[in-house]
Parts: sequence; structure tokens; C-alpha cells
Amino acid sequence: MKTLLFVFGTRPEAIKCAPVVLKAQKDPRFKVLVCSTGQHREMIRPLFDFFGIKPDFDLDLMKPGQTLVDISMGVMSGLNKILLENKVDGIVVQGDTSSGFIASLVSFYHKIPVIHIEAGLRSGDIFSPFPEEFNRKGTALVAKIHLAPTETAKQNLIHEHYPEKDVFVTGNTGIDALFEVKNKIEARPELNAQFADKYSFLSRDKNLALVTVHRRESFGEPMEQVMSGLLELSRRNDLELLIPLHMNPQVRASAQKIFGDNAKWIDKGETVKPGQSKIWLCEPVDYVPFIYLMDRAHIIITDSGGVQEEAPSLGKPILVAREKTERPEAIEAGTSMLIPLKKDEFIRVATDVLDKKEIYQRMAQAKNPFGDGSASEKILDIVAKHL
Ligand code: UD1
Ligand code: UDP
Repeated sequence: MKTLLFVFGTRPEAIKCAPVVLKAQKDPRFKVLVCSTGQHREMIRPLFDFFGIKPDFDLDLMKPGQTLVDISMGVMSGLNKILLENKVDGIVVQGDTSSGFIASLVSFYHKIPVIHIEAGLRSGDIFSPFPEEFNRKGTALVAKIHLAPTETAKQNLIHEHYPEKDVFVTGNTGIDALFEVKNKIEARPELNAQFADKYSFLSRDKNLALVTVHRRESFGEPMEQVMSGLLELSRRNDLELLIPLHMNPQVRASAQKIFGDNAKWIDKGETVKPGQSKIWLCEPVDYVPFIYLMDRAHIIITDSGGVQEEAPSLGKPILVAREKTERPEAIEAGTSMLIPLKKDEFIRVATDVLDKKEIYQRMAQAKNPFGDGSASEKILDIVAKHL
């Protein structure tokens, strides 16, 4: 039996690691340990509850407005201590966060094999997304097993001269999680009714644009250009916007500056009614209702990696508010489009998608290039064989 230590700390890592952790816990080939770095606090807690995962270790490192150095130092010293006191056969990290990258570096110093889920994504620009492009390249340098979600990601690694025998295409575990949630919502019709009630302030006669933005490289002017574009779009009669705001203080400061009194918060104890606002702001939404909202949306505008991967399964056009994406598969499949971080261009592209039926219909196809829901199973078989 091999002991695997999963190390993660942010919302998307929790969502994408959970299906693998849960399967591995039931698998006699593995003993599973989980370390939460605590890089996120409020945004990750509901996910541990939802998936029923209880971390064995919690580094609890989050502080408001933390820097990349703060995160790195916290993971380094915390994980170092855990590895000095516990014997593990492999460390599992996911994606490109600083928690994942530093965990892989500490594992390397301890000469413990690193298993990298969602390996091989590349934008080709070390500063975009920042610092994620560096984090995933750094993780690849020390990984023993590279689990690429798509063939494109595998080819990126081969191109960087990683041996083909160490690279495996598995699909993205985020799609496993999404399928689980969709099944749960379908099996429990009362959930739909519950969410419909919670979001009853949304107008039935308007299209919903669901929006999330949080990328560090967009902080300040680029993000404010996007928000100014959103403000302009909200003036259309046929559209209203719901924006679950990331908890990063920089995102919130820009939202306050640009939207001001034009936006209304929904979860501040006040009753809100349809038609009272065209821009609704709210705290980050729990994962299951977020999937409900994606499903209800007419269009999704986001700079999120995970949302770009999920939306095609729900047949929703995605406008990716980024200069570059490491997920070209959705663009090639026709379900997503990059949208410039300049107000006027942003409005032009968004208006085209909203007004031109042929563009909208082409993008609204339920074809997911990122996986079929079987990634976790494949990953465990590969790890059992190659670790
Ligand atoms: C991190 C990851 C990013 C990932 C994103 C997912 C890095 C460098 N960044 O970025 O790759 O796309 O998570 O959301 O690893 N905060 C809270 N409560 C929370 C979470 C965040 O208050 O539960 C606030 C805190 O003020 C915190 C700030 O948000 O300091 C930034 O969090 P941080 O994890 O540093 O950056 P993210 O932008 O969330
Ligand atoms: N998500 C969520 N609530 C929200 C916004 C996003 O549950 O209010 C989920 C979303 O479905 C996806 C993941 O969080 O699975 C993406 O996280 P995020 O955008 O923070 O990070 P990224 O994927 O960009 O690293």
C-alpha cells in the first residue's frame, strides 16, 4: 500500500483534487493523507464540508492581502515539518497555484516523488497568467508523473523534452467533480427549487451574464477596463449581470470604484427584488449553486481557469477576459473566445456574441474538450502502476 499526501490550498484545487481523494480513500492500493495549506480560508471551507474531506494537516496560512512570498514561506516551513515527521511515498499536487508549486519544491528537497495533476498547460508567457505559468513549469521540473488533461497539454510537455513514458493523458478531474454535482442536482429536484428561490431576484425576462474575475496580472487598470465594459453592457435592456466577487481585496476595490452605486449587493440582509439592479454583486457562491447559476446563465464572462473548463459541458458561451489562455482547446472547439481587456473592444466582442445569433449558437454547443468524467479513475491506475 502506497501513502499519498495530497497538498492543496485554494478553491479550484479542492474541487479538482476532491474526486481523486475520495476515490483513493476507497482504493486498497492507497493510504491517503490530505494537507490543506489554508491559502484560501472562507472559499475552501464549504468544499471540505461538501465533499466530506477532513484534512489531516492544516497549515492555516491565509492572511488578508497576502503576497506570493507570504504564501511560499508558509507552505515551505509548514510542509517541511510534516515531511520530517511523516513517511509518504508520493505527493500529489494539482495545477498551478503557489501552494502546489512550493509543495512540489519541498517534496523535491525531501526526494519524494511528485505527482502533478493538470500538467502541461502553457500560455507561452511567463507573466500571463502570473505567477501560474511559472508555477506549473516549475512543478513539471520536479514531477515524476505528469497527468495531462488533454493531448495538447501532453504535447506541450513532450515539446519541453519530458520523457513520453512519464506523461499521461487523463482528462481534467474538474469535469469528474462537475458530473458528480450535476447528478446530485438532477437526483434532488428540491435543490433546483431551493436555488431558484435564493436567486428569485433575477429577472425571468432578462438574459443572465454570470461574471467572475480574479487574475493577479489583471489587477488595476486591465480589470477596471473590463468592469467598465461590464457596466456599459448592463445598460442593455435584455441583460443583467451577477458577479460573485472573489475575496481578494484588490478585486473588491476595483469593483467598488467602477460599479459604485450602479451595483447592488445581494447578501447583506436586505430583501432585493427583480428589476432593482442590473448589476448584482455577491460573496463567492458555494460550488453546487455556482453550477446551477452557470446552467441558468445565457453567457459567462470570466478569467477563471476552472470555469473555462466547466462551461462547455453546460453548453454556455464563454468570453474569456484575458490576453492569453493556456486552455486553447475551448477556443478551438468554438465554445470560448478571448475578450480584450480594453473597454471598447470588450464591448464590441461581447455585443457581437450577444446580438449575432449565428455566433452565439456556434459557441453554445455542449461539447467538452477537457474530459469525460473518468480522469480520477485513470489517475489512480497510473499512480498505482508507475509510482
Ligand atoms: C489563488 C491562486 C490562483 C487561483 C486562485 C483561485 C496563487 C498565486 N494564486 O489566487 O492561481 O486561480 O487562487 O481562486 O496561487 N481571500 C480571503 N478568503 C479566501 C480566499 C482569499 O479573504 O478564502 C482573500 C485574502 O485577502 C487573500 C486574497 O484573497 O490574501 C488573495 O488570495 P490568494 O490565494 O493569495 O490569491 P488568489 O487571487 O485567490
Ligand atoms: N466557483 C465557485 N464559486 C464561485 C466562483 C467559482 O464554486 O463563486 C468554482 C467554479 O465552478 C470552478 C472553480 O470555482 O470550479 C474555479 O475557481 P477560481 O475561478 O477561483 O480559480 P481558477 O480556476 O481560475 O484557478
